[in-house]
Amino acid sequence: LSSTQVDLSAIQPGQSIKAEFRKQPLFVRNLTPAEIAAAGAVPADSLRDPQTLEERTKAGKTNWLVTLGVCTHLGCVPLGAGEGENKGPFGGYFCPCHGSAYDTAGRIRSGPAPLNLAVPEYEFTSDTAITVG
Ligand code: FES
Repeated sequence: LSSTQVDLSAIQPGQSIKAEFRKQPLFVRNLTPAEIAAAGAVPADSLRDPQTLEERTKAGKTNWLVTLGVCTHLGCVPLGAGEGENKGPFGGYFCPCHGSAYDTAGRIRSGPAPLNLAVPEYEFTSDTAITVG
C-alpha cells in the first residue's frame, strides 16, 4: 500500500488543508492554542467516542491533527478544511449530509456519526513533514 507525504510548512495555525491518502480525503490541521484549549476543556469520558486530543496526536505536536476526511456516518466529506469553510458548531468539521459536527480534535460531538474522524498511521519525518501510511 502506498504512503503519502505531506509538507506542513505552509499550513498556518488555524488552517486545515485537504490532501489525499489512498484515494480518500485526508485533513491536516494546524490547531491554534485556543483550539487546543477547547479540545482539552471537554472531559473525554463525556464523549460518544472517548478520546483526548493527546491520544489523537503525536507527543509534543498536539497542534497537528491528521485525520481522514471521511464522515463516520455514511462517508461524506465533511466541511472545514479550506478557506472559509463551515467548521460547524464545535469548531472542527461539519458534515453537510446529515449534520454531524466534529470538534477541534475531530471528535464527534453531535449528529448521527458514531465515531471520531479516523486518525491514520503517520510519522513525522521532520518538523515540517509527515508520511502517512
Ligand atoms: Fe456525515 Fe451522514 S454522512 S452525517
